[in-house]
Amino acid sequence: MTRTARPRRFLMCRPTHFEVSYAINPWMDPAKPVDTDLAVLQWERLHELYAELGHRVDLIDPLPGLPDMVYAANGATVVDGKVLGARFRNAERAAEGPAYLEWFREHGFTTHDPVHVNEGEGDLLLTGGHLLAGRGFRSVSAGHAEAQEFLGRPVIGLDLVDPRFYHLDTALSVLDTDEVMYYPGAFSPGSRAVLRRLFPDAVLVEEADAEAFGLNVMSDGLNVVLPEAATGVAARLRERGFRPIGMDLSELFKGGGSVKCCTLEIREAA
Ligand code: ARG
Repeated sequence: MTRTARPRRFLMCRPTHFEVSYAINPWMDPAKPVDTDLAVLQWERLHELYAELGHRVDLIDPLPGLPDMVYAANGATVVDGKVLGARFRNAERAAEGPAYLEWFREHGFTTHDPVHVNEGEGDLLLTGGHLLAGRGFRSVSAGHAEAQEFLGRPVIGLDLVDPRFYHLDTALSVLDTDEVMYYPGAFSPGSRAVLRRLFPDAVLVEEADAEAFGLNVMSDGLNVVLPEAATGVAARLRERGFRPIGMDLSELFKGGGSVKCCTLEIREAA
C-alpha cells in the first residue's frame, strides 16, 4: 500500500521549566532526578524533525511553575479551526488551560472556554469519522458532550481502565484517516468491542510496547514518530507501509509522556 504524508501544523512548548515535582500519574516519581537540559535537547530534536518532515511548528512560551506545560497535546483540541480549551482534573495543571486558550485567541482562532473536564488531545483523538474520547482517569463524559456540541463531530466515549494508560493518547493512536492502533488491555470490555467494530483492521499493540509509550506517536500518514524503545510497534508499522522514526525522549517519559504528548495539532478550517 502506498502511503502519503500530509503536512501538518503543530503547537509545541519548550520544556524550559520541566521537572517532576508532583505525581499525578503512575510514571511520575518526584524522588527520581530529572535532567532539564537533556529534556530540552531531546525536545529540540523532535522539534527539528518535524521541520525536516515539512510540518509547521508554532511555539507557546513556557510558564514557570507549570512543569507539565511541555505536554502541549493536553492544551486544547483544534478541529476545523475551532479551539476547544482544556480544563484539567488536577489543580497542579489548572493554569495551563487558560494559557493555551490565550495563545489561540491571540492568533485569531474561535475558542470555547470549557465548563467540564477535558484534557485536550490527551483524551480527544480525531479520526475521519469520529472524535474518539477517553474517560476514566482525566476527561469526563460531560466534557465529551461539550466537545461534540462545540466541534460538531460525533463523539465515541471509550473507558480507560489501566492507570498506566491514563490518557487515551497513551493507549491508542490515529495513524491515518480511519486507521488506528491500540493496546486492548487499556480499555474496558465494552470499549474493546466498540473499537473492534469501528476498526476491524486495527494494529493491536503488545503490553511491552504500550509501556514504552509506543502508542504516543505522531503520524502524518506516512512518517510515524515514536519513542525509540517501542521496537515492536516500529516493526508492525513498517509491515503496514509506514515509515517509523524512533526518538529518545527519556527525560519527558519521567513525566508520563512522549512524542504525541508534546505535540498539539492545529487543524485549520478547510
Ligand atoms: N504529567 C502529565 C500528566 O500527568 C503528563 C501528560 C502527558 N500528556 C499526554 N498527552 N498524555 O498530566
